[in-house]
Amino acid sequence: MSKQYQFKLVLLGESAVGKSSLVLRFVKDQFDDYRESTIGAAFLTQTVTLDDGSTVKFEIWDTAGQERYKSLAPMYYRNANCAVVVYDITQAASLEKARSWIRELQRQADPSIVIALCGNKSDLAARRQVSQEEAKKYADEEGLMWGETSAKTGEGVADIFTAIAKKLPQTAPPSARGAAGRPGASGRTGVDLNKQPAGANSQNEPCAC
Ligand code: GTP
Ligand code: MG
Repeated sequence: MSKQYQFKLVLLGESAVGKSSLVLRFVKDQFDDYRESTIGAAFLTQTVTLDDGSTVKFEIWDTAGQERYKSLAPMYYRNANCAVVVYDITQAASLEKARSWIRELQRQADPSIVIALCGNKSDLAARRQVSQEEAKKYADEEGLMWGETSAKTGEGVADIFTAIAKKLPQTAPPSARGAAGRPGASGRTGVDLNKQPAGANSQNEPCAC
């Protein structure tokens, strides 16, 4: 029987880098030229099926990048198994903001968190301010996954989530239990659901396994 996993993923990054657009592309394969800035945070789920038939369900918290919401972020990254920290390749300042989120995650998130640095808006390469070399070098130094995406064209979007889905089952601690659907809910996600005791899934997100 194929394995089924469930992980909590948080998106962080400066406002307007395209976090919500990435999630919309990943979950619904859509793009919106005029997206409203996120208020608080949004919650979505998406399941990825890997080559070996195992499935990884992501519980995604799309946080708001505006400064006024910054204090809410720990609530969303606290029990996260993975974080996608997004910058806009046409805005050098957004990479500085991404670095600051990564420092905060390294200090305050779970030490086993998998972090992916994501350079979005690759369709605007003509206005590029952040080179691939610079971002990749930084990611390598910090032990982060890295990739460029375009939520607009879809380029690289599935790749980055699939790469995370492949990495997580290997890195999640075997002791991980629980299936938190909300920030603040007890227990970590990152669960091989086949191994969970009956009834251990979250109440608001029943598992279809
Ligand atoms: P906050 O919710 O304020 O934190 O912003 P956000 O990071 O969620 O950004 P959002 O997804 O709302 O996108 C901001 C703007 O960038 C919107 O006008 C999007 O249409 C545009 N955008 C997002 N991704 C891309 C992309 O890959 N390419 C291009 N050209 N535009 C994009
Ligand atoms: Mg948003």
